[in-house]
Amino acid sequence: MSGLFPKTASWLEERIGLGDLIKRTLTGYGIPARATGLPFCLGGLAILFFLSQLLTGILLLVHYVPTSAGAFHSVERITLEVPFGWFIRGLHSFGATTMIIAVMLHALRVFFFAEYKNPRELHWVTGMILLLLTLFLAFSGYLLPWTQLSYWGSTVGTETLRDIPLIGEQCVQLVRGGTNVGEPTLHRFFALHVVILPLAFLGLFGIHIYFVRRTGQGGPPTIRPGEPKYPFFPNHVAKELLVFAIVLFVLTLLIIFWPEVREEPADPFNTPKHIKPEWYFLPSYQFLKIVSPKWFALLLQGLAVMVLVLWPFLDRSEERDIRKRPLLLAFSILAILVVLGLGVWGHYS
Ligand code: HEM
Repeated sequence: MSGLFPKTASWLEERIGLGDLIKRTLTGYGIPARATGLPFCLGGLAILFFLSQLLTGILLLVHYVPTSAGAFHSVERITLEVPFGWFIRGLHSFGATTMIIAVMLHALRVFFFAEYKNPRELHWVTGMILLLLTLFLAFSGYLLPWTQLSYWGSTVGTETLRDIPLIGEQCVQLVRGGTNVGEPTLHRFFALHVVILPLAFLGLFGIHIYFVRRTGQGGPPTIRPGEPKYPFFPNHVAKELLVFAIVLFVLTLLIIFWPEVREEPADPFNTPKHIKPEWYFLPSYQFLKIVSPKWFALLLQGLAVMVLVLWPFLDRSEERDIRKRPLLLAFSILAILVVLGLGVWGHYS
């Protein structure tokens, strides 16, 4: 009997190779000792928040009704009647914002440490698409509570597509499933938000991490080959979980002391005076407001996104230390300030 367990374990190990897999991907994997500080926990934080979004999203789905007649009341019921529904909803909504901030800061770290350079160009490209997917996830979820703000916010957001030359009208109709935001739009956004985008995100995240593992992690630009390594598991994972726990604690305080305000149900016949998108779309919204013609503003934004996605192929310099590239440093800081400035302007205009 005493030898039965080790025998079964080694029989399973021979066939499944789980122990070997754990050794290769967790305990036996090391990251540069100088790549373990807070900036290097942001990618991990983003995925932990994605998992938290999955969990809270599934719990919300138990009571959410995806129809224009039922959505608003089901969300009210979740907030007011379902035990801890207010907390789950708050965590899903603050979690979305936190995930977007974590992804953006992660991208900024990778940019300023030039971790996108050879051989990590595709880490960057898949990362940028993940960032876009994260924004689409947030945008598609925004309509689901079917409130005045979410209805009209989505109306304004989808309306921007109309300015695409030649196919603008068709694009709006395709996204909305009709002329206006309505029942078909809610069904489309629901399908995108709970199935299509999360699946695409998970698949692409798998590829992103596969690339990271293939090359190993880069770290700061001053890192030299042969520098000491730090165990990824349990040490670095424990650090990432600690950061996650601290952020969750802060979010819990925010949810308790800054609860969601009660909102009006969507009314397609009554346009509210001030419609603004969520903070992460404010820079783009303000840019579209001040630049004309609109198709030109859209073209410039499309080009900016293309430049960002393809950046590793455009920046051909071998120098990784941005302090030795004052022009790029100055331009990047200026670009960040312009985006922030447009956001603040959009908020107050
Ligand atoms: C939801 C989106 C994302 C998730 C969950 C994610 C997750 C991760 C994780 C866990 C790592 C390894 C740990 C680390 O280096 O911090 C990583 C590395 C990396 N990520 Fe992301 N990432 C996301 C988006 C992005 C974006 C937007 C970019 C840039 C455009 C990006 C570019 C990179 C690069 C270049 C690396 C390799 C860094 C190195 O090896 O030094 N990622 N990502």
